[in-house]
Amino acid sequence: MTASPPPLQLDQVALTLPSVAGPVAILRGVDFSVATGECVAVVGPSGSGKSSLIAVAAGLEQPSAGTVRLFGEDLSRLNEDGRARLRRGRVSLVFQSFHLLPNMTAEENVAAPLEIAGARNAGATAADWLDRVGLHERRRHYPHQLSGGEQQRVALARALAARPALLFADEPTGNLDADNAGLVADMMFALVAEVGAALVLVTHEAALAERAGRRVTMAGGRIVNGA
Ligand SMILES: Nc1ncnc2c1ncn2[C@@H]1O[C@H](COP(=O)(O)OP(=O)(O)OP(=O)(O)O)[C@@H](O)[C@H]1O
Ligand SMILES: [Mg+2]
Repeated sequence: MTASPPPLQLDQVALTLPSVAGPVAILRGVDFSVATGECVAVVGPSGSGKSSLIAVAAGLEQPSAGTVRLFGEDLSRLNEDGRARLRRGRVSLVFQSFHLLPNMTAEENVAAPLEIAGARNAGATAADWLDRVGLHERRRHYPHQLSGGEQQRVALARALAARPALLFADEPTGNLDADNAGLVADMMFALVAEVGAALVLVTHEAALAERAGRRVTMAGGRIVNGA
C-alpha cells in the first residue's frame, strides 16, 4: 500500500511581483510541508510573507519558481478550473475579514459551497453546522445582522461543513475582541480535530500559535525556523 501524499508540499517556492519601484521578492525559496491532520502555526513580522505563502499554497497566486503540490498534485500542471476542482470540498480558507456573501443568510452562506460541490441536503447540513458553532438561532440572519464573532463562526462553519482535508486560516481572530477570539479559536481547533483536517494557521497571537502542533517562523520571505 502506498502512503497518501501530504496535503501540502512546497519546494523552493519563490514569488516575485512587479511594482512601480521594480520587482519585489515576496517569497524567496520556501520549503514547507504539512502532513495529514497536522496543525501548523505560521508566525513572523508584518510583511514577512505569511499571507503570500497562503495565497500560493492554496493556488490563488502562481509562484514565480518552485513547486506547490496539493494532495500530491503539482498545481502548475493545472489551469484555474483544474485548481478549483482540486480544492473543492478538500481545501477551505478563513480570513481575518469574514468574507461572507452579504445578500445571503448565515445558512445560505454555509450551504452555498456544499451545493456547488453537489452535496445533497446542503441546507440541513448547513443548519447542523450553524448549530455546532452556537448559531442555530441566528441561521436566518444576514451578515450585517451578526456581530464580528458571529460572522467568523459562520465563516468557520462554511469552511468546515464540507469536511475539508486542509484548512488555511489567515489571522482568523485578528478582528475579534479577546472573548470572541478565544471562542472562535476553541471552535476552530475542536472542529478541525473532529473532521481530521490539517490546519495552516497564520497568527500574531503567541497563545494561539502555541496551540498548534508545530510553529514555523517567516522573515523576509523565508521560513527561518521550524520548516
Ligand atoms: N500585489 C503585491 N505587489 C507587490 N508587493 C506585494 C503585493 N502583495 C504583497 N506585497 C508585499 O509582500 C510582502 C509580504 O506581504 P504579506 O501580505 O504576505 O505579509 P504578511 O506576513 O501576511 O503581513 P501581515 O502580518 O501584515 O499580514 C509585503 O512587503 C507586501 O508589501
Ligand atoms: Mg497577512
